[in-house]
Amino acid sequence: MPAISFQSVSKTYPSARNGPLKALDGVSFDIHAGEFFGLLGPNGAGKTTLISILAGLVRPTSGRVAVRGYDVQADYAEARRQLGVVPQELVFDPFFNVREALRIQSGYFGVKNNDAWIDELLASLGLSDKADANMRQLSGGMKRRMLVAQALVHKPPVIVLDEPTAGVDVELRQTLWQFIARLNRAGHTVLLTTHYLEEAEALCGRVAMLKSGRVVALDRTSELLKAASSNVLRFKVDAPLPPELADKARVTGRIAQLPAHDAHEIEQHLASVRRAGLSVEDVEVRKADLEDVFLEVMARHGEAPLPDRPAGDGNPPRAASVADEAAAVEAGSP
Ligand SMILES: Nc1ncnc2c1ncn2[C@@H]1O[C@H](COP(=O)(O)OP(=O)(O)OP(=O)(O)O)[C@@H](O)[C@H]1O
Ligand SMILES: [Mg+2]
Repeated sequence: MPAISFQSVSKTYPSARNGPLKALDGVSFDIHAGEFFGLLGPNGAGKTTLISILAGLVRPTSGRVAVRGYDVQADYAEARRQLGVVPQELVFDPFFNVREALRIQSGYFGVKNNDAWIDELLASLGLSDKADANMRQLSGGMKRRMLVAQALVHKPPVIVLDEPTAGVDVELRQTLWQFIARLNRAGHTVLLTTHYLEEAEALCGRVAMLKSGRVVALDRTSELLKAASSNVLRFKVDAPLPPELADKARVTGRIAQLPAHDAHEIEQHLASVRRAGLSVEDVEVRKADLEDVFLEVMARHGEAPLPDRPAGDGNPPRAASVADEAAAVEAGSP
């Protein structure tokens, strides 16, 4: 039995001004017990909507979602008990201190005498010295750690994290991931959304990429990396790239990054730069990472709001999306 099963999930929000908005469009895939699974996608792709449906907070327009066999609508309470959800939005009851809030959350799930686990959670998340602090006295990053503690207070078999590391400092990110990885090794299933793609690459065995409410890629992380252009040529440049390169490049300030399959392609790129009379420095070649794969997949599926290249940057619009390719990806998923 899968830990999480999404079957043909669609969600249309009735939107007053611009007509109805299709946030999810036939999403189907399973997450197996014990997996560390990444759900990636640009802003507005539908990740939080999918997680909210999973958590029973939003009703799907059509389709079925089950957690360890429990339907999130028909068996709401049982499905919810299987889940620990760290929401993207910071929401708190301002009247309690940290320890009280965790005790109340335990009570909500019917877990008694939970102080040993609460102490372990606080220690693992670097919150021990804030146990008696009121929620209002926590910094933004501490509030996010508290959301993680709240989600895990009943030791749920399935852990869902919606951008848990947004605004969290480097040190705590590492502590948090060690802690979540330990829970995963102990058998907990983890579903993670994040915009830090190096985190997803390091942690997730499989990854699904969502774009405009559809699954546009789903595979083992290692397979996704293999399928991408294997190398990236990176250099600093003093002027805009010639058009034949600008179309393919990821440009951040003076740094240009170009996908390249082999040494020949690397030479061609450098020759184009030379022909254009540009001077380059700090040239390096690195292996493609999950961020490169993500950008490639999003570009292939049309009007990608590439983070480093906002729309209207003088480049031609990209090709329209290939919907049936997405359907093929979904059909091929386990
Ligand atoms: N309650 C709502 N009413 C109307 N539209 C909504 C509502 N919630 C989300 N949407 C829309 O649904 C789409 C998907 O939003 P969602 O929050 O699921 O995206 P996301 O992938 O989580 O993005 P982000 O990376 O920014 O968190 C967006 O176009 C958003 O504006
Ligand atoms: Mg979101």
